Amino acid sequence: MSVCCLIGRPCFSCLSATSTMAPRNRSSSRRPLWIIILIAFVCAVGLGAYFYTPRHYTTCYLVSSDACSSQPPPEPVRVYTDDEIAARAIMRDIIRARPVQSKNPKIAFMFLTPSSLPFEKLWEKFFMVIWGTISMIDAEKRLLAHALEDPENQHFVLLSESCVPLHNFDYIYSYLMETNVSFVDCFDDPGPHGSGRYSEHMLPEIVKRDWRKGAQWFTVKRQHAILILADTLYYGKFKRYCKPGNEWHNCYSDEHYLPTLFNMADPTGIANWSVTHVDWSEGKWHPKVYRAVDTSFELLKSISSIDESIRVSSNAKVNYRWTYLVIIVQHIVQRRPCMWNGMKRPCYLFARKFYPEALDNLMNIFSNYTII
Ligand SMILES: *[C@@H]1O[C@H](CO)[C@@H](O)[C@H](O)[C@H]1NC(C)=O
Ligand SMILES: *[C@@H]1O[C@H](CO)[C@@H](O)[C@H](O)[C@H]1NC(C)=O
Ligand SMILES: *[C@@H]1O[C@H](CO)[C@@H](O)[C@H](O)[C@H]1NC(C)=O
Repeated sequence: MSVCCLIGRPCFSCLSATSTMAPRNRSSSRRPLWIIILIAFVCAVGLGAYFYTPRHYTTCYLVSSDACSSQPPPEPVRVYTDDEIAARAIMRDIIRARPVQSKNPKIAFMFLTPSSLPFEKLWEKFFMVIWGTISMIDAEKRLLAHALEDPENQHFVLLSESCVPLHNFDYIYSYLMETNVSFVDCFDDPGPHGSGRYSEHMLPEIVKRDWRKGAQWFTVKRQHAILILADTLYYGKFKRYCKPGNEWHNCYSDEHYLPTLFNMADPTGIANWSVTHVDWSEGKWHPKVYRAVDTSFELLKSISSIDESIRVSSNAKVNYRWTYLVIIVQHIVQRRPCMWNGMKRPCYLFARKFYPEALDNLMNIFSNYTII
């Protein structure tokens, strides 16, 4: 897999995972090149400063059926291993450290994509091989490491090649920069595709109660990006014991590692939803993919006005009928208002998945786009 990195707005560059950045001028790049671009997109604009407003999170108190809103059961006393004590001390210090004050705070946009779009199908197939395995997390860590090299990058956005922006840059910039939380999707799915993927190999460091699920498309503040790179303890557990395959309960690291890590290390530091919208409502293995005909101004407008995060969790009911065992997998929809610095706001800054054929429509919509 290669990594591509764009530095915006005035210029961008593209690199492979192992090579160094090769700056390229935006004006010299033609559209096909822009499409073929593979992974990391470091977009840097030094607009605005941090706005500091106090956080009030009321989300959890508005919903009652959810893990985060209920009182946690009393912690059983457990003796931590030496590795855990060391890992926790490092994480605690990273979280407590004052954020670096930068004169020109930037956001790093990182695209994690299988490969060039003209061969998307082929590469999707190729990508399936590593889908869900720890190599996704490795790719994300490589992207973060590259983006962290610029001390002015204060927020890091992971996107896929099928993502599109829903708002203009200034809106996205202030949405991410004017809050102290990372937008990491994190929820407790009690069903077979959630806690059903937990295995006791995760013990003693990761207990079942701490196990979480969430979409992999995150935005993280700098501290959290460093925390992800610093973690070897929990990462090692996932690398060894969270893999696709029946003997591993079909565990997918990219859906569980970061939600579980942040739930343990800094639960109040994350918003618990992802700012990238995806439509799972069809209830299939893969989310809805928009074709050119689906891609209208109304579609983007309706996605960008959603102000509740919706998660489809799985729930298994077991029925015994005579000698047959019937397992019904029921999809439960959880809705929560998206609270941004204590205010209910639209949840999404980006949307996926769009087929490349939607490009012309998207270009047309965006040239007329005045929604902020
Ligand atoms: C973010 O954190 C800083 C200190 O780390 C604080 O001064 C500021 O008020 C916080 N901003 C928000 C939006 O909570
Ligand atoms: C996210 O959920 C955790 C509990 O799982 C909670 O402590 C935290 O406050 C939530 N974050 C926000 C921003 O509401
Ligand atoms: C964008 O504006 C042009 C000119 O006003 C118009 O022809 C076109 O249909 C508009 N596109 C959309 C998607 O509204």
